[in-house]
Amino acid sequence: MDRIRIVGGNALAGTIPISGAKNAALPLMIASLLTDDTLTLENVPHLADVEQLIRILGNHGVDYSVNGRREKQQEGYSRTINFSARNIVDTTAPYELVSKMRASFWVIGPLLARMGEAKVSLPGGCAIGTRPVDLFLEGLQVLGAELDVDNGYVMAKTKNGRLVGNRYVFPKVSVGATHVLMMAASLAKGETVLENAACEPEIVNLAECLVAMGAKIHGAGTSTITIHGVEALSGARVRVIPDRIETGTYAMAVAMTGGDVMLDGARPDLLQTALDVLVETGAEITPTNEGIRVKRNGAGIAPVDVTTAPFPAFPTDLQAQFMGLMTMAKGKSRITETIFENRFMHVQELARLGAHITLSGQTAIVDGVAKLKGAPVMATDLRASVSLVIAGLAAEGETTVNRVYHLDRGFERLEEKLSGCGAVIERISG
Ligand code: UD1
Repeated sequence: MDRIRIVGGNALAGTIPISGAKNAALPLMIASLLTDDTLTLENVPHLADVEQLIRILGNHGVDYSVNGRREKQQEGYSRTINFSARNIVDTTAPYELVSKMRASFWVIGPLLARMGEAKVSLPGGCAIGTRPVDLFLEGLQVLGAELDVDNGYVMAKTKNGRLVGNRYVFPKVSVGATHVLMMAASLAKGETVLENAACEPEIVNLAECLVAMGAKIHGAGTSTITIHGVEALSGARVRVIPDRIETGTYAMAVAMTGGDVMLDGARPDLLQTALDVLVETGAEITPTNEGIRVKRNGAGIAPVDVTTAPFPAFPTDLQAQFMGLMTMAKGKSRITETIFENRFMHVQELARLGAHITLSGQTAIVDGVAKLKGAPVMATDLRASVSLVIAGLAAEGETTVNRVYHLDRGFERLEEKLSGCGAVIERISG
């Protein structure tokens, strides 16, 4: 299994290109199931989760081809990919594929809407809480789906070949369930109103894609989304938005190590709350035409309390990285997680680097220390693992991060991007 070796202590300086967002690319790829035309997606990041979803879609009959000449779209960088679901050959998403990535459960929406039936395994995914799918099932039932859960599979079918628009109020904000119901309602008969919908930028990107395909959607990015179902959707060409979590992660790395880095292609409006928090910690954040410039020179890191919550509040996907930063703040900070009940697995690993953190329910109290010391640590989930990388960059001496496959799910060319800014970081294979 690959490991990442870091020798900490260098400030970061230079430019980091921000990739297309994993969490936007995945639902956009799944939207290709809604049409028999070609959906062309630009800026698709080259990540293990994207490759896994290509395999899952391939199982349903989706063909894909990478656009452009190889020298222009180097292997390993964000690419333009055509997806064509002309013939759906199978409406079953098997356990072996779905268990590897939770978002693959989302195929249930488009398959049901277009084919009138779907059999999808209940998901696995990151071990950051129980993560049920009750909202997806309830919402699809409200749109007229008949559901049965048997042997770990959800069997779904429509009554008369088509879903029927309706009003659904999410009892809890869910990004995935909002994606799925928006896709399903696009091909339903009549109007659907989704209330208490997720407002994340990835929802807006999916809505833009569906509208480009001919869907009639209003209100995406607010908590009420209205969808007038159409009979069929066409192909389109859509660009994946820049990854706000990757942006925030590197911004936090610079805030921790000090230095001066341009996050090329980043969009400040996608993570304003997190940027405001970074300014409070003492970082200098400057939006420019190219992206976001992050600097921290000389001054210490000020402690700041944060609470995660749905967009536009502080994102849960930056909580672990922010905790990394707070381990070296000059004082105590409180970090409260309200989205996932088990998202503190990085605490034990950060402690191995010398961090002082105590847990009290859903709140971590971080008592900043003057320095961290390198150590071998274990990645436990995608965002937790990158918090260990950030802490390793600021720690004295050598840190090895084991179980790197978590990082490969969500961070494109991590070592290359960081070493390009002066970090000592390398992958050790085997
Ligand atoms: C997405 C993101 C993930 C991010 C999360 C919250 C992708 C691929 N993943 O995950 O990186 O951390 O949003 O911003 O985009 N819930 C239920 N029942 C359901 C569905 C969800 O109780 O049927 C709960 C979850 O357990 C969780 C909360 O709702 O506590 C929010 O989850 P949700 O927004 O659905 O997260 P994902 O879409 O899985």
